[in-house]
Amino acid sequence: GYDVSKLLSKTGVVTYDPGFMNTAATSSAITYIDGDAGILRYRGYPIEDLAQHSSFLEVSYLLIYGNLPSPSELSAFDEKIRRHTLLHEDLKGFFAGFPRDAHPMPVLSSAVSALSTFYQDSLDPFDDDQVELSTIRLLAKLPVIAAYAHKKSIGQAMLYPDNSMNLVENFLRLCFGLPAEQYELDPVMVKALDLLLILHADHEQNCSTSTVRLVGSSNANMFASISAGVNALFGPLHGGANEAVLNMLRQIQASGEPVEKFVQRVKNKEDGIKLMGFGHRVYKNYDPRAKIVKATANDILSRLGGNDELLDIAMKLEETALTDQYFVDRRLYPNVDFYTGVIYKAMGFPEKMFTVLFAMGRLPGWIAQWREMIKDPATKIGRPRQLYTGEQERSYPSR
Ligand code: ACO
Repeated sequence: GYDVSKLLSKTGVVTYDPGFMNTAATSSAITYIDGDAGILRYRGYPIEDLAQHSSFLEVSYLLIYGNLPSPSELSAFDEKIRRHTLLHEDLKGFFAGFPRDAHPMPVLSSAVSALSTFYQDSLDPFDDDQVELSTIRLLAKLPVIAAYAHKKSIGQAMLYPDNSMNLVENFLRLCFGLPAEQYELDPVMVKALDLLLILHADHEQNCSTSTVRLVGSSNANMFASISAGVNALFGPLHGGANEAVLNMLRQIQASGEPVEKFVQRVKNKEDGIKLMGFGHRVYKNYDPRAKIVKATANDILSRLGGNDELLDIAMKLEETALTDQYFVDRRLYPNVDFYTGVIYKAMGFPEKMFTVLFAMGRLPGWIAQWREMIKDPATKIGRPRQLYTGEQERSYPSR
């Protein structure tokens, strides 16, 4: 019903590309993906090398500033973040306003949005010092907000950050520590979480990152833009998939339904069910991040004492799907979140926190992309076109 001649506008041809399957909205020097070959690099470094040799803090620095930090640059960065972990006391009151069973993702996005009201001295997107200050504030405070959202959901007291700890250690203590009790850090858990955060740290123009850029293109400040990114990540087709995967595995476990039968129901598109954690818009090969998670899942689980049965179900699902023509034809492979939930669960996180952990990992990527967008002379306010399919002009009925 669309008049094709309208595709020619004064500025050229208008393309119709739902889901932006073939439209590059920006150029970027941050992350490289070759979806056919299953390659992912941050600033030129293969994800496999970063996963093996770097820390999440180092990767955050790399994404945001473009190069791996020297030891002194890293310790200065670490120090700055440690000095900004405290949340304004009034912001803590914010958490009391939500119902106890609130999902921590909207709590996180609301509190990140509220940072604009508490830290008004770092909102100018064109002042480099303010951008730097909001960068450090977000890196330091978002994990604290995330931990408080968790504490709120389980009805426990919120602890003050302990700045003798690094970002990941502090987060674990804030989530699992109790007042008046010494929190014993488990090095296996620290290392496992650090690795998962690295794997989620950036993924070029995915839904949430594109959201951050789009909101930022109106010159909205970094807190506002990233809060929007958190909301975009919440959806089950994006970051919410990690929670959905674990729910799926538990349902299969509880029902005792054979994996083959479940896969058959997916293929029949029964009630629109999907094999959650499978498929990706860009990867038409094994997601390199999923490969790393899978390779370490067994080891981490045996050391953390997790639920091996869920991992077994996941592996059986993968095995069944990868040899099935439906999945082969559509080039559907496990994505990063197929195995992460089993590990998060073994660490002691409830399902509702899984996507929050994704947001924590993706934060340096969102910041790096927002900063690149704001400095790019080619940036214009994002304003897609449409194909109008509604009524032509009608005369208003006489009454
Ligand atoms: N299970 C079963 N079938 C699937 C799956 C799946 N997980 N993913 C895609 N398909 C099928 C679709 O039904 C479609 O089949 P059809 O040709 O018969 O209609 C075909 O494969 C193509 O799928 P699209 O939805 O068109 O692919 P798109 O690129 O738009 O979607 C997406 C990608 C959203 C990731 C999709 O694969 C999906 O929904 N996966 C499950 C959710 C998930 O794991 N999301 C996490 C993504 S990664 C991340 O954000 C970290």
